Amino acid sequence: MTGMTDLDGRFAGRVAIVTGGALGIGGGTARKLASQGASVLVADVNDEAADANVAGITANGGTARAIHTDVGSHDDIKTMIDTAVSNWGRLDILVQNAYDGGRRVQGSAIEVAEEDWDHGMGLLTKALYLGAKYSVPEMQKTGGGSIVNLASVHGFLMAPRKLVYEAGKAAVIGMTKQMAIDFGPLGIRVNCILPGHIVTEKSQTATWDRTPGGLEFFEQQYPVRRTGVPEDIANAISFLCSDDASFITGHPLAVDGGLTIQLQEDLGVALGKYARENEFEMPY
Ligand SMILES: NC(=O)c1ccc[n+]([C@@H]2O[C@H](COP(=O)([O-])OP(=O)(O)OC[C@H]3O[C@@H](n4cnc5c(N)ncnc54)[C@H](O)[C@@H]3O)[C@@H](O)[C@H]2O)c1
Repeated sequence: MTGMTDLDGRFAGRVAIVTGGALGIGGGTARKLASQGASVLVADVNDEAADANVAGITANGGTARAIHTDVGSHDDIKTMIDTAVSNWGRLDILVQNAYDGGRRVQGSAIEVAEEDWDHGMGLLTKALYLGAKYSVPEMQKTGGGSIVNLASVHGFLMAPRKLVYEAGKAAVIGMTKQMAIDFGPLGIRVNCILPGHIVTEKSQTATWDRTPGGLEFFEQQYPVRRTGVPEDIANAISFLCSDDASFITGHPLAVDGGLTIQLQEDLGVALGKYARENEFEMPY
């Protein structure tokens, strides 16, 4: 993770919320936006990690606060928006990133339990609707704002036995386009990012990353011959939230090192062969 090297003031005087802003992509995004002058509310269930990220931001001269937020809770989302506004007087940016990957459920429609569907869809879709419901009226008061939702390459191309994640992320792309239409006239742009594989603090435990040689093999499937880091996504989010992107809305931006421009048949064969040779079950 890089420190604060670009205090360019792009977001000076602006207020941002990053859900899941303690670790991973959200952690990097909170640091990026703060480094560019935004006051950032780090909304996360992991209080310890959120406090640590805030401490790092403030030690580097940025402005941030943490708030305990479970995006599965309607009340928490409303309180999160209210807190940003009561602290800093306005809301300009909402990054809807939080997802409990640890509870990611594998399975087809005949395997997934109803409560896992409800839990997953609650975090992946309902949370984004509620975030917009309460943030848009606040953004409107100051003439506009920007919402960035985290989708995934999995919302664009489907993998087997991942009903909840794929359906949820596809819905994020649809919700983003729909909200962009409703809120464009209010000066509020809504975009989403489709990350490829991003190595985070947590992904040390993921199948590819912990299989010897797995990450290296995985990297070879990317045209740029590397997987991503949170800063790759944070940079794209910063751009989408900036005035440089003022004519961009409803856009699903793949930030995936070219993963999804490839012929999928070739890619699938290579990954399947590797999994068989290394005797592990494909992570999807
Ligand atoms: N890492 C990747 O390869 C990748 C790829 C595509 C899309 N994404 C998407 O990007 C987003 C972030 O992924 P990540 O890999 O950085 O995740 P991560 O697991 O590294 O971090 C997630 C953060 O969200 C927090 N969180 C989890 N559940 C929460 C909840 N209910 N309420 C509030 N905070 C909660 C966690 O405490 C953590 O700080 C997710 O939406 C994920 O689906 C990630």
